Amino acid sequence: MKIIHVEGQVGRAESEAAEVLVLLRCEGASGLTQEAAAIDAQLGGQLTKLIKRGEFEGKLGEGLLVHTQGKAKATRLFLAGLGKEKDLRLDAFRQALGSAVKRVRQAKVTSFTVVMPDTLPHETSVLDVAQALVEGAILGNYQFTAYRSTNGTKPIDVERLTLYTSQRAHLPQMTEGIRRGVATAEATVLVRDLCNHPSNVMTPTRIVREAQAVAKESGVRLKVLEQKDMEKLGMGALLGVARGSHEPPKFIILEYKGAKAKKTEQPVVLVGKTITFDTGGISLKPAENMEHMKADMTGGAEVLATMRAAARLKLPLHLISILPVAENMPGGRAMKPGDIVTTLSGKTVEVQNTDAEGRLILSDGLAYATRYKPAVLIDIATLTGACVVALGQFAVGMFGNDEQAKEQVRNAGLRAGERVWEMPLWEEYFEQLRSDVADMRNIGGRGGGMITAALFLSKFVGDCPWIHLDIASTDWSERERAYLPKGPTGIGTRLLIQFLINRTLP
Ligand code: BES
Ligand code: ZN
Ligand code: ZN
Repeated sequence: MKIIHVEGQVGRAESEAAEVLVLLRCEGASGLTQEAAAIDAQLGGQLTKLIKRGEFEGKLGEGLLVHTQGKAKATRLFLAGLGKEKDLRLDAFRQALGSAVKRVRQAKVTSFTVVMPDTLPHETSVLDVAQALVEGAILGNYQFTAYRSTNGTKPIDVERLTLYTSQRAHLPQMTEGIRRGVATAEATVLVRDLCNHPSNVMTPTRIVREAQAVAKESGVRLKVLEQKDMEKLGMGALLGVARGSHEPPKFIILEYKGAKAKKTEQPVVLVGKTITFDTGGISLKPAENMEHMKADMTGGAEVLATMRAAARLKLPLHLISILPVAENMPGGRAMKPGDIVTTLSGKTVEVQNTDAEGRLILSDGLAYATRYKPAVLIDIATLTGACVVALGQFAVGMFGNDEQAKEQVRNAGLRAGERVWEMPLWEEYFEQLRSDVADMRNIGGRGGGMITAALFLSKFVGDCPWIHLDIASTDWSERERAYLPKGPTGIGTRLLIQFLINRTLP
């Protein structure tokens, strides 16, 4: 799969040749947009008739391909529904373009154009809409074909998307929206790829190679701690998780200082759970759906991809991404229930369940992160099955100790269409984590599993402003949607990048 190249142009879409011209339309809209009216005239009123007959209503997700039979400049039109105008959200534009790009691919054409809409959702700008359109197109076009034999046939890829605006004054915002949309979507594509690769390929050692590639491209500093370094530092939790595997653990640190970042600025530090496969360890998982656990590295992939996007966008900030990396296996030397590990922070943990490994590797990741005195510390992790139970597939679980940071993450989520939902981080729940033999245990028993996991993490962040995102609910999609594939979704990536964009760009 090639990544679609996107450009913005000022002009009248109806007078330009196009293989497919996408026209966006709200459900129940009165009349046609300027461009649609012009094309309707070229087609002798065919669009008006179609709409009158109810063949196309403009419902969210609806799409209709119309051949123009040489009567218009565009060979085909694709009518894409946005839903009712009063409910219009940025995500409708992503969904519309996600559906459109799939139809374009089916038609075996390589380029398409879209007209910028003239109605914008409440409190959004031309920039936001352009960004959403680009994201929808690139993400909807995603396919993972690395392991499919092609039998010599070359797949037809959608190569080019052109955004049209008739208003020259909108061009700068549209161009910036395209730049941001390409960066966030390409980052998500990277995450989906990393998570789709099976665990026999995407091992901890291979993750280091991926980090090296990002560091090289982005010109960011890369430091990799090996097992002996972790032993010296005392990362007993990460080492404990890795014990059952033949794959040595890694601890990856990437550091980016944007050219315009203030010298004295405290960094934003991101920590991502990077378990390349989670069998559960000695507390072995059941076989059903265990293959999904190749994506238990989503958090790490996301902080890596966010680093690349921040550098590509030249964001003026100081950013650090940390990936504690291990494979959770039930080998002969594996941790056993009841084992006690001493974490980097000095706190001891009784490991009652080796399947609650994410919080263990994160405890060392977070403790390490506090050394940078972050302005804000965010961890992101496929942490708990309880998150799936509580939130289903449409919300990321959010916890935090800083109201301002929470508000910023919430807003970034709304903008990105990767929404978060706050859960309580109340100290009362800590009684569930008390251990008879160590400072705490790594599971909280029945009830509030997402909360006790978050509360466990909170013991390792000191007094840093901190956010924890549980993405176990969203990291894997059971079915294909407009711009989400079946399988790894990369949800969380655009949320993180948008959070950084909102902090640093106007
Ligand atoms: N990686 C899993 C959580 C998970 C579950 C992610 C489903 C995505 C989908 C995590 O390491 C885990 O196994 N958590 C346990 C914790 C329990 C033993 C307290 C869980 O949620 O079952
Ligand atoms: Zn687990
Ligand atoms: Zn896990």
